[in-house]
Amino acid sequence: MNSNNVEDTGYTQAMGHLLVLYTQVDQFIMEACAERIASAPGQSARLGLAKQVGDECRHVGIQSRWMEEFGVDPGPVISQRVLEQLHSHFRGLDWVDFLTDLYLVVEALGSQAVEQVVPLADPGTRESLRVPLQDELDHVAFGLSELHKALADMDPQLRKTRLEKIPVRIQGFVNFLQRLDVPVVDWFEQVGASSQQLCAVLSQRKDELLSELAA
Ligand SMILES: [Fe+2]
Ligand SMILES: [Fe+2]
Repeated sequence: MNSNNVEDTGYTQAMGHLLVLYTQVDQFIMEACAERIASAPGQSARLGLAKQVGDECRHVGIQSRWMEEFGVDPGPVISQRVLEQLHSHFRGLDWVDFLTDLYLVVEALGSQAVEQVVPLADPGTRESLRVPLQDELDHVAFGLSELHKALADMDPQLRKTRLEKIPVRIQGFVNFLQRLDVPVVDWFEQVGASSQQLCAVLSQRKDELLSELAA
């Protein structure tokens, strides 16, 4: 599938759902980061979260403008109930778990999945993803750096225990996301992505993140 598929209603609908999903996730991240600013440990964490709130706000604006032009049904694909569930999940996490779930899973694996769609997307959608995906790299770098700092501040035994728990935690949160009632894999396939390839890319990205953390 390539950029000529805007005439294909299956493509347009599925891409529309993915765009709504991405925008809802950005909005969610914006709110979750804003809530964490006051309790974040240290000035660099607070400044990084505040910058990210601004970035995600810009992404929501870019995506919303593009969705209107593209003629996407703006109806939410994540229900209010699920969003509230996700907010309460994040509110209950300590700083290390918050960083793990938000930056390793939602930001790093999420934007890796979006990257897979870019070559399959029509030119307008591809352009709408350019700035947001560039910023997501900064967000992942911020999350990894804060996670490194938080782990480095722990005594070695605790650090070891927390580090060992991270892969399980990532898998647990991925499973939680998969149980939400959002047929995201179907949409990926409908825009021409292979779910098998997507899984392989995400698994490789997860391994890279884990080795970066352990370094
Ligand atoms: Fe974003
Ligand atoms: Fe982000």
